[in-house]
Amino acid sequence: MSERPCTSLLKWGRFGYLCGSHLTKTRSRSNQVGVSKLLVTGSSGLIGSEVVGFFCEAGWEVHGMDNNMRKDFFGPPGDTSWNRERLSKAYPNFQHHEVDVRDRTGVAHLVAELQPGAIVHAAAQPSHDLAASRPYDDFDVNAVGTLNLLEAARRNCPESPFIHMSTNKVYGDAPNRLDLIELETRWDYADPEYAEGIKENFSIDNSTHSIFGASKVAADIMVQEYGRYFQMPTCCLRGGCLTGPNHSGVELHGFLSYLIKCNVENKTYKIYGYKGKQVRDNIHALDVARFMDQFIRNPRVAEVYNLGGGRQNSISIVEAFELIEKISGQAMQYKYSDQNRKGDHVCYISDLSTMKRHYPKWGITRDLPTMFKEIYESWVRRPDAGW
Ligand SMILES: NC(=O)c1ccc[n+]([C@@H]2O[C@H](COP(=O)([O-])OP(=O)(O)OC[C@H]3O[C@@H](n4cnc5c(N)ncnc54)[C@H](O)[C@@H]3O)[C@@H](O)[C@H]2O)c1
Repeated sequence: MSERPCTSLLKWGRFGYLCGSHLTKTRSRSNQVGVSKLLVTGSSGLIGSEVVGFFCEAGWEVHGMDNNMRKDFFGPPGDTSWNRERLSKAYPNFQHHEVDVRDRTGVAHLVAELQPGAIVHAAAQPSHDLAASRPYDDFDVNAVGTLNLLEAARRNCPESPFIHMSTNKVYGDAPNRLDLIELETRWDYADPEYAEGIKENFSIDNSTHSIFGASKVAADIMVQEYGRYFQMPTCCLRGGCLTGPNHSGVELHGFLSYLIKCNVENKTYKIYGYKGKQVRDNIHALDVARFMDQFIRNPRVAEVYNLGGGRQNSISIVEAFELIEKISGQAMQYKYSDQNRKGDHVCYISDLSTMKRHYPKWGITRDLPTMFKEIYESWVRRPDAGW
């Protein structure tokens, strides 16, 4: 992993963009002359929409790229158009572009026209299970789409920070080889070396990734390579469970969002194996956006970060049932299948120490009960609920 901070931005960039402590000045300047532009792909999805809101509120001119392919992947419950409409209504400094990341020419034209001061790449096919039935679509969106965007960035705005949403599935099922202990309601790591979770130097080799994990590895490596080879300020955020009230959670993707939706709608949640004690660490999308802000202020080259809620925000499925039941007052309906999902992690907790060391001002601000309440309240009032 690179330890080099980015030096190429320590001057006025081509687009009036300054890095580091000078960004605040850039922002106020940008408010006057409209300089700092952010391009966000997957802008109608969970992470993209949170990033749009965060940077719009900070005064950036934000451009979103999304073709609502989540609806194509997951059917009507995956439709993100409600979120795009919400953003357009809420933020006059947000502009939506209905562009497909697979469309190399379309992506190149948009990046050339915008010359963004920073890029956040959050468009993806995000599900393991779906990837196995649509491998071409999965690879074209996740791997080729990322290359399209990287190359457009290299040709038009190589100094601009490029943040890629990667995933902890790049480690494949290798975390399942760690010794575990079975506690009453969860699995946990037996080895104290993993007390804080999994670090970025964990091997990505010799494991089953799923088709989705493999296409994300391709993208992750390419983002690192554009950093190392072309000295672009890129980083990969290897997400654990990312969550928040704006997720269009479905069974195949969006763990907490879908689990809470089932509770609200009194639908049966199916547990796949591991006695329901499988552990995920959950981070609110706002804390993801806050980290991106730190990286854009002080970018580094070819970095990789494990990004999740860490141990403090880790929870098993059966523990999550208990918490949502307390909040909603409604018992969780569920059924159990012995068969786990292929390659599914038994216990995954992200070690956040590299992020905190490089960006000491960053930390987790939303705990589990706060996230649960927010997601619960959003499902109660959302226009797309009830599918
Ligand atoms: N949500 C999680 O728990 C989680 C965990 C780890 C990593 N990630 C990664 O974070 C990123 C964002 O995830 P998310 O949860 O916001 O997903 P999401 O599905 O909510 O959002 C992705 C958005 O990308 C759009 N999209 C898909 N294909 C597209 C295409 N061809 N062109 C343009 N737009 C397209 C979708 O319509 C959707 O709005 C993804 O890369 C995902 O792999 C997510």
